[in-house]
Amino acid sequence: MQLNSEVTDTLIDRLAADLETSDFSVGTLSELWGERAEQALHRGERVPALRALAARRSSQAPHSAETSSSATALVFASASESEPAVTLASLFLLGVPVDASALAAAVPTLGLDGAVELGLVAVEGGQARALVDLRPYSFVDTAGAGSWWIVSDLGEMVLDGALTTDHVLGVGGASLTLSGLMVSRPVERVLDLGTGCGIQALHAARHAGHVVATDISARALEIAALNARLNGVHNIEFRLGDMFEPVEGERFDQIVTNPPFVITPRRADVPAYEYRDGGRIGDGIMREVVTGVGRHLNPGGIAQMLGNWEYRAGEDGFDRVRGWVQASDAPLDAWLIERERQDPAAYAETWIRDGGTRSGTPDFDRLYNAWLDDFADRGVESVGFGYLTLRRAEQDQQDPQAAKPLRRFERMPDALAASSGLGTHIAAVLDAHDWIAAHDDDALWRATLQVAPDVTEERNYWPGNDDPSTITLKQGGGFARTVKLDTALAALVGASDGELPVGVIVEAIAQLLDADVPALRQELLPRLRQLILDGFVQPLG
Ligand SMILES: C[S@@+](CC[C@H](N)C(=O)[O-])C[C@H]1O[C@@H](n2cnc3c(N)ncnc32)[C@H](O)[C@@H]1O
Repeated sequence: MQLNSEVTDTLIDRLAADLETSDFSVGTLSELWGERAEQALHRGERVPALRALAARRSSQAPHSAETSSSATALVFASASESEPAVTLASLFLLGVPVDASALAAAVPTLGLDGAVELGLVAVEGGQARALVDLRPYSFVDTAGAGSWWIVSDLGEMVLDGALTTDHVLGVGGASLTLSGLMVSRPVERVLDLGTGCGIQALHAARHAGHVVATDISARALEIAALNARLNGVHNIEFRLGDMFEPVEGERFDQIVTNPPFVITPRRADVPAYEYRDGGRIGDGIMREVVTGVGRHLNPGGIAQMLGNWEYRAGEDGFDRVRGWVQASDAPLDAWLIERERQDPAAYAETWIRDGGTRSGTPDFDRLYNAWLDDFADRGVESVGFGYLTLRRAEQDQQDPQAAKPLRRFERMPDALAASSGLGTHIAAVLDAHDWIAAHDDDALWRATLQVAPDVTEERNYWPGNDDPSTITLKQGGGFARTVKLDTALAALVGASDGELPVGVIVEAIAQLLDADVPALRQELLPRLRQLILDGFVQPLG
């Protein structure tokens, strides 16, 4: 079903007023159905939530709850007396039709006609049926806690069968990963490429003067614009078009994109879902984003993205990404974190199921073969998934000898899927890289450092032994890294309290350990640089 194209600001504002009045919030819903139902919903299962709502209703009106085990019948024979939040949750999250009168009561300002006109519901035979998903969303970022309502297309959980190819995605795990990684320092202009329901643009709008949100899907842009209005966000501009085409010749301080990176066989009998498939061969969409993004960044501007990269026969996937970074028109820093690597079969299963095709069906097997043929054609042995942060150099005409671009390619299978603090950490790591690049060993020797506040040290001892067998530095925030230290480096870190310069501390350690100062300096400084880069110790000034 298409969202009504004549969405009016007035209707959206009325909807917002009704959602506010009914306290349609994450907290209200958690309270309505409890933690286990919440977890089941995260797994894509709605029965526990339906049962919880039915139980709630029967405790309020003992004779009205259905006893049938059918999922939708678990809700109400007549929902007209329901609390508004129950009606809205049943309808828009769980996909259960409700009495039209119950919906009218839940959105008194918008009214039933308004809900129909906005394209939220269809009414038939006295029942209202949801045409979209509408749910509360809460978050914490550097500006503090916040909450929005987000409209998207109905998900697989409430649809019978596969998704349509023009499906507009709601806020999923990948969306949360990217929004958690997003650097949120104040900037003037941000681009959200492939905005979908607009979730990244909404987040960016909190720290940006102006956000341009693009998508190839007009329907996605309509929904994203509705979401912006619904949440009182007025600094996002929406533009239709393929990749960078809507921003040709423009530059931004920051670019975020959760691009349609899913590798899909290019065959007529394989559905191309707009929300995840950019229509290119293999990982071609990632190559386009990485090679093209620098042109649209202001000097010093940061681009952050999620993506897949192929490992083809005899080639490291990281080398493919390195090649794309090198091929960029503008010089880029690059920091890639690979969180997962899947073999072609596991990858195919993941994405065929994601489209709503169940395994064990002839369709599933046909699609599975198509995916494996496609991977075999290019000699793909596995597919990496992770995050990529790129930064345009401050000056394009750098002396290539003097320029030390960041090239950090890491495998981090335990990296957090989503964390609201990672954006701040990523910005700090980029700063640390700049500091390190600007300080040679003599300057580092004179520098004063301090241990970051989230760092702790753990020492293990063999029984009866006074000297530790291992010393481990642990990071509480960021990527929660751990580093093994030897006695000298542990002493240097331990004495870095913002008082004494590095050189003075190293000379004292050399005396204590009866070591040669130049040799100790040569041994410790490279490792100290790594600790600074990872955020364990911070330079003062
Ligand atoms: C994975 S979704 C990301 C949605 C949202 N930004 C998020 O983080 O949840 C990718 C989005 O890219 C859009 N898209 C697909 N192909 C595109 C293209 N060639 N150019 C621009 N956007 C495209 C899709 O319509 C979809 O909304």
